Amino acid sequence: MAKIVILTGAGISAESGIRTFRASDGLWEDHRIEDVATPEGFGADPELVHEFYNMRRATAAAARPNAAHVALAQLERAPQHQVLVVTQNVDDLHERAGSQHVIHMHGTLFGHLCHSCDHRWPAPAISTAHDLCPACHQPATRPDIVWFGEMPYRMDEIWTALRGADLFVSIGTSGNVYPAAGFAQDAMRTGVATLELNLDRSSGSHIFDESRQGLASVLVPQWVDQICTAKPN
Ligand code: APR
Repeated sequence: MAKIVILTGAGISAESGIRTFRASDGLWEDHRIEDVATPEGFGADPELVHEFYNMRRATAAAARPNAAHVALAQLERAPQHQVLVVTQNVDDLHERAGSQHVIHMHGTLFGHLCHSCDHRWPAPAISTAHDLCPACHQPATRPDIVWFGEMPYRMDEIWTALRGADLFVSIGTSGNVYPAAGFAQDAMRTGVATLELNLDRSSGSHIFDESRQGLASVLVPQWVDQICTAKPN
């Protein structure tokens, strides 16, 4: 059974209508990272940060999985492959397409976290800086999102899966944000085969054994079809 670890980024959800971050029309053109995606920004203006994530939660809730998400869920169901999706995305489109083995290393728009007692609970559609934690009753509600300067979730599990994989595939990420940006190099050093599927060449394209350029909704179903119909060696 081939073990496949798949890293996804904003590019896989772009065709579902969710903006990427670093394109000319990306989210970071309209919002300063320091204001909305750091603990310091949250400390300075929690209401602004809640509004930013309320807006993103509404967009994600209205979006539908596209052919790329669906193809990855199909791949997971194929008996000859063991698939783990590690996503930097905070939408839930992988799960809604049917993927069951998904790690949200940057958190989720659909969760809240108490910055006083660490309790987690589902996020309502709209949240405010005055919302109380249901466990400790403090007004300490924050989105369950990993901000710049914070440690991504479940990294030990991710490194173990990556180093034990037969294939690492990176889909729709610009390779600008670590630690995810270092996965391909780490996989390569441990002898794991690597493939990139992205709209254009990323800063790390040269590291991969193979890099294909195009839309995720086209490239991902093509690649899934290719490996599901390949004859075993
Ligand atoms: N199909 C495939 N790739 C696409 C598509 C598409 N339809 N549209 C865009 N892309 C590619 C872009 O070419 C780009 O390389 O997706 C990539 C998106 O890059 P970013 O906007 O930088 O998003 P991402 O790599 O996911 O960002 C990583 O940065 O700000 C943080 O926490 C945020 O998780 C995010 C992290």
